Amino acid sequence: MTHPIACDLLVDGIGRLYTCHRPGDEKGPRRGPDALSDVGLVEDAAVAAYQGEIVAVGPQDEVHRAVRLLPGGAYLDAGGRAVVPGFVDPHTHAVFGRSRPEEFGRRLVGESYQSIAASGGGIRASVRDFRRRDRRELVTLTRGRLREALRSGTTTIEVKSGYGLELEAELKALRVLRDLSGESGLPRIVPTCLAAHEFPDEYRDRRDAYVDLVCETILPQAVAEGLAERVDVFCEPGVYTVEQARRVLSRGMELGLDACIHADELEGGGGSELAAELGAASADHLGAIAPEGIEALAAAPTVGVLLPGTIFSLGLDRFAPARTMIEAGVAVALATDFNPGSNYCSSIPLTMAIACTRMHLHPHETLVMATIQAAWALRRPDSVGSLRVGKRCDLLVLRTETIDELVQHMGADEIETVVQDGRIVAD
Ligand code: NIG
Ligand code: FE
Repeated sequence: MTHPIACDLLVDGIGRLYTCHRPGDEKGPRRGPDALSDVGLVEDAAVAAYQGEIVAVGPQDEVHRAVRLLPGGAYLDAGGRAVVPGFVDPHTHAVFGRSRPEEFGRRLVGESYQSIAASGGGIRASVRDFRRRDRRELVTLTRGRLREALRSGTTTIEVKSGYGLELEAELKALRVLRDLSGESGLPRIVPTCLAAHEFPDEYRDRRDAYVDLVCETILPQAVAEGLAERVDVFCEPGVYTVEQARRVLSRGMELGLDACIHADELEGGGGSELAAELGAASADHLGAIAPEGIEALAAAPTVGVLLPGTIFSLGLDRFAPARTMIEAGVAVALATDFNPGSNYCSSIPLTMAIACTRMHLHPHETLVMATIQAAWALRRPDSVGSLRVGKRCDLLVLRTETIDELVQHMGADEIETVVQDGRIVAD
């Protein structure tokens, strides 16, 4: 018998392989409870890759018959445990200087995120700190955080600028991401320009002039240097109005960027409807989404990215109405929102646990939301988010036999090995 397919990585002995693939996934993100809970399970399975790409995946005996491991290739025996796709985190703010632990305590004994922000804390405090730091130091700080995310199973991560709020400082954040892109031992980075994260102090009384700066100078410059793939804006009462957010996103789209939006996070007011109107790639947060917003997203290509870690870390109760959104046909995904203030957590497994307990999701739903659905939010469904021939070989060998245990064992380190692009990057 011939073994026609050469591979340089073979993972076998997989008790349960959660491929997270379902026929039709290539056409659009999943909608409805049945699709969302389909983890594409294969028992007694194996996966093979060549030069970072999956060349065979399925029942172990079939994969063994189909492939030949090249001399010097890597071999991993999963020992009967579970394997899942590498997680895709479609919303983080990982480029910053110091974090803001003092605000955490202040919030929990009574102050609100908004009142701390109004008194000069919050994002603006991070901006003052960020502007002072040089790029090399920021590269070192960000590298450490991204390594940590990879250890927690994140193999693709979106990272936003947004603590610069002026041309050079925003470009500095995006250049930090470019410096780190492709570095081994780090997740694959998807960079987003969030120059419209807040209004800088020097523009607080002439906000539209800052929107002009973002639209006419910062976004075009970021695009000219090839530093961003996406544009984002914080649309929330007291920050960017729907009208200002529309200008920023439309301009970014005109420049060729994918749009995403911080929408209906705390009080809400039209951000989800705007995302749907523009056909944005994602609308993120959605804790305060209105019925009209749910209806609009259900009819749009836009993925609703839920960030329950932030509501948990802020000590609030207003989680996104995930079950209602799923029933209504909104395509939902999951992300951490890792940032220096409202949620210092880069762990997808912990975020899955919070999603299950506070938004009443099943562990299987959260797995799909953190893989193929998140890949759709980043408009990368062809390369990441599920284990299929032709996709990047990003996978996690768990220490447990099921994904349910990883979610239930909150805060425990249940990831044995991380494989990215067919190479073992954390073990
Ligand atoms: O997604 N909402 C705006 N941005 C972040 C918070 C960033 C921060 O507090 O530094 C968020 O929650
Ligand atoms: Fe955010």
